This record gives sequence, structure tokens and C-alpha cells, in this order.
Amino acid sequence: MIAPHGGLLVDLVASAGREAELRARAGGLPRIVLTARQLSDLDLLAIGALSPLEGFMGESDYTNVVADMRLANGLVWSIPVTLAVDRANVPRDDGEIALYDEAGELRAILNLRERFAYDKTREAREVYGTEDGAHPGVAAIYAQGDVLLGGPVTVFRSIETDPYRLTPAQTRAEFAARGWRTIVGFQTRNPVHRAHEYIQKCALELVDGLLLHPLVGETKADDIPADVRMQCYRVLLDHYYPADRVLLAAMPASMRYAGPREAVFHALIRKNYGCTHFIVGRDHAGVGTYYGTYDAQKLMDSIAPADLEIIPLKFENSFYCHSCAGMASEKTCPHGADARVSLSGSAVRTMLLAGESPPPEFSRPEVARILIEAARGTAVSA
Ligand code: ADX
Repeated sequence: MIAPHGGLLVDLVASAGREAELRARAGGLPRIVLTARQLSDLDLLAIGALSPLEGFMGESDYTNVVADMRLANGLVWSIPVTLAVDRANVPRDDGEIALYDEAGELRAILNLRERFAYDKTREAREVYGTEDGAHPGVAAIYAQGDVLLGGPVTVFRSIETDPYRLTPAQTRAEFAARGWRTIVGFQTRNPVHRAHEYIQKCALELVDGLLLHPLVGETKADDIPADVRMQCYRVLLDHYYPADRVLLAAMPASMRYAGPREAVFHALIRKNYGCTHFIVGRDHAGVGTYYGTYDAQKLMDSIAPADLEIIPLKFENSFYCHSCAGMASEKTCPHGADARVSLSGSAVRTMLLAGESPPPEFSRPEVARILIEAARGTAVSA
């Protein structure tokens, strides 16, 4: 089994005894209410999905990650994991801080060790490759507080009702139980289409198992909601995938849209979940025209394999080609654009809103039906 990033799977969930002790004094501690994005990071930290991180980054990790894509200890790390607060909410002293969610639930205790100002424009430029406030990830940084709080967290156990929310320890146990030694992870924030299916299945030809790992944290408003995307996957798996070769699970991160840097982040997270390989296709985690089609693949290639350990499986832009009479990519298909079925995200959205199915060469009819129902705002039972 592949080792987690940095060697050890972090577990930040408090034991029952420790939780009782912390809860007893939480009422007297300074409090901070986390945003949905911060809560996603807390969820990931708690279960070791961000191993070796044990909390929100302090200044030396933050500065190194922004400038050099490494933690202060030299390990590759591409995206800052930070707790930003407004100046008015900065606790006066170091020590324990109670972290609440927006519903008023106590979720964790932060052991505050550092409070520091940071350069938002620099983070935007280095991590996102643009200072443009119209970029959704950059906009989120510009909108957040001006001070970062750093320190380890102890997280309270949450009652998990979603069967797809597997922890890295659980996916690792499942891979072992199924006898899989090589596993490819697939990141996605969009409804599954034929090109996704094609690259997943090409990858599956090379390894023992496929971890379908849709991101279910916050995405931008015009992305399709996670529950609809999960529904699409369930119906697709029932009809087109071998059950014993695929594991579907939810990945709780929020989307940053940081393109190449986020591809590295996504790969490291999947390494922690036990994947040995990771799919990077065209414009991975991209948005608009901020990144080149294969920039994410180039960044992955620039990192020494020993520093990454998880192996990137890179795919060219894929599509259905009428002349080939099958799925293909720019690497395998000699035909021109006329023969290829390619639709932009906004073209697909317009069709769905009009109650129209995208062609079956683009989207499986079972999936299209769910998306049309969702676009109409009607719940559908798959
Ligand atoms: S992402 O933001 O999570 O990257 P999306 O869900 O669309 O968005 O993509 C999931 C993965 O599939 C990414 O690795 C992406 O590069 C890849 N991908 C999406 N569409 C295609 C395509 N037509 N051809 C090749 N790779 C693709």
C-alpha cells in the first residue's frame, strides 16, 4: 500500500474522553465561526486527507508553499490551507480557540500558535497564476479576512450519515479487502460525461481498481450540485461499470479552481486515500481561459517522481469521433473537428435547461435524464 504523504496518516479526531474534556471548557474560550470553505478544510484535516498537515498553516509553511510549492520541511505542497479572519476577530492571545460552524455547532479546538498578515495579491499570482478578481478562487481570497491563524486542530467526531463519506483509512481498508494493489483516483466537479468515462476506463485497463472521487465541497454557483452529480454516478455505475473494480466515494474539499497547483493538491489528497495513480486530463481544475490545456500535466511532470510518489496518468482532450465510431483523443484520432462531438459546458447547460438531451455520444441517456430533471428543479429518484 502506498504511504501517505510524509509517511504517516494523520488522525486529528478527538477520543471520547478528550472531547468531553475539551467541550467542558470550550464555553469559556474565544470563538471563531468557520465558513463553508474553512469547514471543508477542517473535515479534510480531521481524517488525514491532508496528511502530514495537523492544522491550519503557520507562516513558514504558508510562505514556502506560496513561493516554492513546498512545506517548510521540504515536502511538496501546492495549495495553502489557512484560516483567515477579519482583524476584528483576531484572538488577543495564543492558546485554545473554539471553532464553530455556521449552525452554531462546536466542531474543533484550534491551538493557536501564530497570527500573521499575508499578501493576498502574491498568493493569487503564485498559486492561481493571476491577480484577476474575476477568477473564483482569487475572489475568495480577496473576500476573506486579512489575518491568518496558524496552529494544530483537534476535531470532534461528526455523526456520518452519508455512506459515501469514506475516510482515507476506510478507502485504504477497502482497497486491501478487495485485493487491489494499484488504484487510480479520479477527481471531478462536473457531471460525468462520455469523455470522463473513457479516460477512467482507459486508466482502469492499467490498474486493479478505480476510486471515483467527486469533490463535494463548495463549488461556484453555476456548477452542478454535488448530490445531482452523485446521482449521475450511481446510475452510470449500475449500467456501465464492473462493480468489483470501482469504488465511489465523496471527497469533501471545496474547489479552488487553481488549475495546475490544484492538480498537485488533488493528487496528494488521493495519495492519502491510498491511490497509486491519479488522472490528470485536459485543463484539470481550470476555469475560464486562465490556464493552458495541459499546464496541469506540465506542472505534475516538473515534480520529481520520488517527491510525488503517486503516478500521474495524463490524458489528452477526449471526445467521440464519428469516423472512428468510438471514443478517442487527439493522440489517437486522425480525423478533423467535423467528425468529433465536442460541446462546451455552457452549450450543455443551455440544452439541459431547454429540456433537451445532449447527444448520446456526449452524455449517457440515463445521466442526461437526471441532469434535465435537476435543471428543471425537480427531484428525481434514480
Ligand atoms: S475538474 O475541475 O475536477 O478538473 P472535471 O470534473 O470536468 O473538472 O474533470 C475531471 C477530470 O477529467 C480532470 O482530470 C480533467 O482534466 C479531465 N477531463 C474532463 N474532460 C475531459 C476531456 N474531454 N478530455 C480529457 N480529460 C478530461
